[in-house]
Amino acid sequence: MSFKEISPNELNTAIFDDIGNKWMLISAAKEDGTVNTMTASWGTVGVLWNKNVFICFIRPQRYTFEFTEASDKISLSFFGEEHRAALKLCGTKSGRDCDKIALAGLDAFVNENGVGFEQAERIIYGKKLYCGRLDPKCFLDEGIEKHYDGDYHYVYICEIEKIEEREQ
Ligand SMILES: Cc1cc2nc3c(=O)[nH]c(=O)nc-3n(C[C@H](O)[C@H](O)[C@H](O)COP(=O)(O)O)c2cc1C
Repeated sequence: MSFKEISPNELNTAIFDDIGNKWMLISAAKEDGTVNTMTASWGTVGVLWNKNVFICFIRPQRYTFEFTEASDKISLSFFGEEHRAALKLCGTKSGRDCDKIALAGLDAFVNENGVGFEQAERIIYGKKLYCGRLDPKCFLDEGIEKHYDGDYHYVYICEIEKIEEREQ
């Protein structure tokens, strides 16, 4: 499958629906080439520090966290509805316990930009700019705490280095 690069200004998509309803895979690779990925439905794309960025949120118990900590690159991959089962699997099984990428029927690749998938419709490759943990002392709405059992997310702000879309 081949991908073509698009500029951030060409990103013409319903991003709230893409992330919140269709979901995405957050992926990173370790130096030895091993890859892990997990499904996410929380995240943002925007502008910060005069850079195009995405922000993603990873709880510390995720196996993926080991990979996002080990790498300076993180990628977001988006898929068509035909891959919903694969995203459900990557959001319920841990790469600690099985080869979930193979179980999901996905083919991952690693290049100088980060991790991608042959089946992805779009891949947003990022370089980490900031990582910090959400501090519950700063929650200003009492409805937020119910999402946690002490496992407050790590927030990664990543500069968007490349966006690729699958060629039909
Ligand atoms: C729809 C959906 C959205 C999710 N969003 C997130 C998220 O934004 N952050 C997070 O830490 N976990 C999220 N998860 C949970 C992880 O994907 C899940 O725990 C996964 O099995 C972790 O795999 P790992 O242990 O291999 O990293 C989500 C799961 C689903 C099904």
